[in-house]
Amino acid sequence: MAVVMFCTLLNLVLLISGPIVVEAAKANMKGKTVKVDCGRVRGLYNVTSRAYSFRGIPYASPPVGNLRWRPPFPVNSTNKNCWRGRLNARTFGSPCLQRNPQFTANMTIGNEDCLYSNVWTPFLNPTAGIPVMFWIHGGCLVFGNGNQQDIVYAPTEQLARDHDVVYVSINYRLNAFGFMSLDMLRVGLHTNTSGNYGFMDMLTGLHWVMFFGQSSGGTAIYALLASPLGHGLFHKAWAISGSPVMNKTAAEVDVDNQVVVQKTGCQDADCLYNMTPEIVPWEEFPYWAMSDLTGIPAKDRFNGALPVVDGTTSHEVSLESSPQEVTNWTWEDNKYQDYVRHALLPFGHVIAETALKLYPENVHNPEFQLASLVTDLRVTCGNDYLALVMATSFTSPVFRYIAEYAPSAPMKAFWVTLPARYAFHGIDMFAFYKTTGLMIDNMTDADRQWEVNVQQEILSFMQIGRPFTAYWGMFPGQTAVLRENTTVTAGYHTAECLFWLKNGFFSYSLIN
Ligand SMILES: *[C@@H]1O[C@H](CO)[C@@H](O)[C@H](O)[C@H]1NC(C)=O
Ligand SMILES: *[C@@H]1O[C@H](CO)[C@@H](O)[C@H](O)[C@H]1NC(C)=O
Ligand SMILES: *[C@@H]1O[C@H](CO)[C@@H](O)[C@H](O)[C@H]1NC(C)=O
Ligand SMILES: *[C@@H]1O[C@H](CO)[C@@H](O)[C@H](O)[C@H]1NC(C)=O
Ligand SMILES: *[C@@H]1O[C@H](CO)[C@@H](O)[C@H](O)[C@H]1NC(C)=O
Ligand SMILES: *[C@@H]1O[C@H](CO)[C@@H](O)[C@H](O)[C@H]1NC(C)=O
Ligand SMILES: *[C@@H]1O[C@H](CO)[C@@H](O)[C@H](O)[C@H]1NC(C)=O
Ligand SMILES: *[C@@H]1O[C@H](CO)[C@@H](O)[C@H](O)[C@H]1NC(C)=O
Repeated sequence: MAVVMFCTLLNLVLLISGPIVVEAAKANMKGKTVKVDCGRVRGLYNVTSRAYSFRGIPYASPPVGNLRWRPPFPVNSTNKNCWRGRLNARTFGSPCLQRNPQFTANMTIGNEDCLYSNVWTPFLNPTAGIPVMFWIHGGCLVFGNGNQQDIVYAPTEQLARDHDVVYVSINYRLNAFGFMSLDMLRVGLHTNTSGNYGFMDMLTGLHWVMFFGQSSGGTAIYALLASPLGHGLFHKAWAISGSPVMNKTAAEVDVDNQVVVQKTGCQDADCLYNMTPEIVPWEEFPYWAMSDLTGIPAKDRFNGALPVVDGTTSHEVSLESSPQEVTNWTWEDNKYQDYVRHALLPFGHVIAETALKLYPENVHNPEFQLASLVTDLRVTCGNDYLALVMATSFTSPVFRYIAEYAPSAPMKAFWVTLPARYAFHGIDMFAFYKTTGLMIDNMTDADRQWEVNVQQEILSFMQIGRPFTAYWGMFPGQTAVLRENTTVTAGYHTAECLFWLKNGFFSYSLIN
């Protein structure tokens, strides 16, 4: 179930609350029409927020039929695939086809026809010259969509107004439709490639100033940074708790994906292009979804990984640490010590005992220590390593932070059962979206100051290319620790990371 935390995210809530919110939108929003390259678009003006939204604007032809498993074909006047008349941009486009995260009722939700973007802006004047930020949602590249403003997993009109920023989000192809790579799908294509359609969707939507994404959205940012196709399309990036991407060659992936092909009953590409989407074997693809993401790894249970960089949190797994009853452990019952010893013993006696010295008993509490240990092993250290690779190979600066703020009360993020007491996966994004208050009953001044701090650091980075805190220097010289304020350190958990990396745990980095 740990995968649920990093992958299914908000879809459950979306299913329940979606239509109601849309009705509410109609009540307090006025229509507003603008003209763009492809024609007229009618959006909404949110009277309360004093900002506009344009929802469900197609940015590429529907990737159906022969466009399935092809690079996206942009909607624009040159390509002559614009809409006719005035586009009604007052409702979100369909999410991309995905496994129903409720695991009940219908097997899938969404549609293959899903390449739509959304815009939230405080002004309509094209010369206003305000910055643009492009949001890439998470969900392990198999779940989610860019529409989820009602459940705080997308920008809002209010955010656009408060930040004086134009926000954009998209739906991009997911799962087998977004990422299945097969040799038979490469043959005959002008690009001579297969796979990564979802990343290409992002690039099509992406002629913007700065982009940001969380979880697999963060991971995607690193894929885009590494792609020559992204060259010149964006200037800045904020990766939030991104994590390793697959480390396999096209040939290896082709072999893996034969399992999927066999389940569809197809022998050739023509058959794959013509099959009904429902017959995708959702259980087989993607094979990268690991089931033990938030615990100490089982030995040799990994696919090989390449980590990514920038912002991560100190207790990524805080709200779904396995084992779940960890909240009730005490130092006296020895459960922490027993668990760490037992789980790490396959790696060797010395490893287990050293880990217990680095994350000792009688400090903080067992939940805090276990989440620290797993987060360092799974996220912090691998991301530090990639940050180092980036800092030494890029000419541009790399700023690294650890979000360490412990909320005033356990935060109940919508995708988990266990309220989080520490800086969990997503806490920095919620601070930026100013939605901490939805997960804590009575926010304190410290909670508010934490939100302000994250926002001013990131908005400054967007505007002037460096964080708000003047003494926060580039990585690897410095790492910032974000709480209500920003402090900097020459190295965060240096000894711990040296230990994990030196002993080969890099390969166990989180895959989301
Ligand atoms: C309009 O803005 C208000 C204030 O931020 C918000 O509560 C409301 O949900 C918005 N309407 C829609 C449809 O998003
Ligand atoms: C439309 O997209 C094509 C790529 O398919 C690109 O070459 C062309 O420049 C675009 N035209 C406009 C007006 O953006
Ligand atoms: C489930 O599938 C049926 C038949 O395709 C469809 O009418 C219905 O809207 C779907 N329900 C959901 C929640 O998507
Ligand atoms: C296409 O890619 C394959 C596999 O990488 C390679 O063998 C082949 O030479 C490429 N063809 C062209 C025309 O580049
Ligand atoms: C990724 O694959 C390359 C080539 O097989 C290998 O050298 C490298 O060690 C792998 N990295 C990880 C993290 O597994
Ligand atoms: C912790 O203990 C309390 C009281 O015994 C119990 O109600 C709760 O379910 C336990 N929490 C977990 C996560 O096991
Ligand atoms: C929040 O504050 C209200 C009003 O002071 C109080 O009634 C309520 O019990 C508080 N809730 C929590 C969870 O502290
Ligand atoms: C920053 O916040 C921490 C609490 O999170 C506090 O202990 C520290 O004194 C603060 N530092 C400054 C410079 O305000």
